[in-house]
Amino acid sequence: MSIFIKTISSIIFLVFNFLNIANAHNHFPITTDSKLMIERGKIAYQNNCVSCHKVNLSGAKNWKGIDSDGHRKAPPLDGSGHTWHHDDKTLHAIIKYGLAKLVKNYEGKMIGFEDKLSDQEIDSILAYMKSYWSRENYEYQLKLN
Ligand code: HEC
Repeated sequence: MSIFIKTISSIIFLVFNFLNIANAHNHFPITTDSKLMIERGKIAYQNNCVSCHKVNLSGAKNWKGIDSDGHRKAPPLDGSGHTWHHDDKTLHAIIKYGLAKLVKNYEGKMIGFEDKLSDQEIDSILAYMKSYWSRENYEYQLKLN
């Protein structure tokens, strides 16, 4: 009898752990509650994104225009563009896979960072981005998730 109980409890334990691990990669919505996460996101942003999306996430100059090779320019991620209209799952996927993998025949410049950034780092960048959004945009976007 006690072996039976032990077996059952270890199975419950395993299932519980598995669910926790599965969840760890999908803990949306991302909030701005952790200063550490925002700091990590800032570093990852500066190493990978700043060349196009610019300092303070402000986006390319005249970002609604077209660049010299006919592509769209990098939009601001600071809440002044439309980034906050996308839920976290979509934003995470855009950063991870790039628009190339998400949009058929995409020819723009937003490539994916799957090989360079972990899911955690991508989430940190999202926290960093959100730390710039107005309270209204931040709360509106939280509800989309
Ligand atoms: C080579 C330039 C370039 C780099 C580097 C780059 N991006 Fe982009 N990104 C773009 C462009 C251009 C777009 C607009 C996509 C389009 O319309 O083709 C974009 C779009 C996006 C969007 C969608 C924004 C919206 O409002 O819909 C997000 C989010 C984003 N980038 C995040 C990032 C992050 C985070 C990084 C770094 C990990 C990064 N990008 C690196 C050029 C770049």
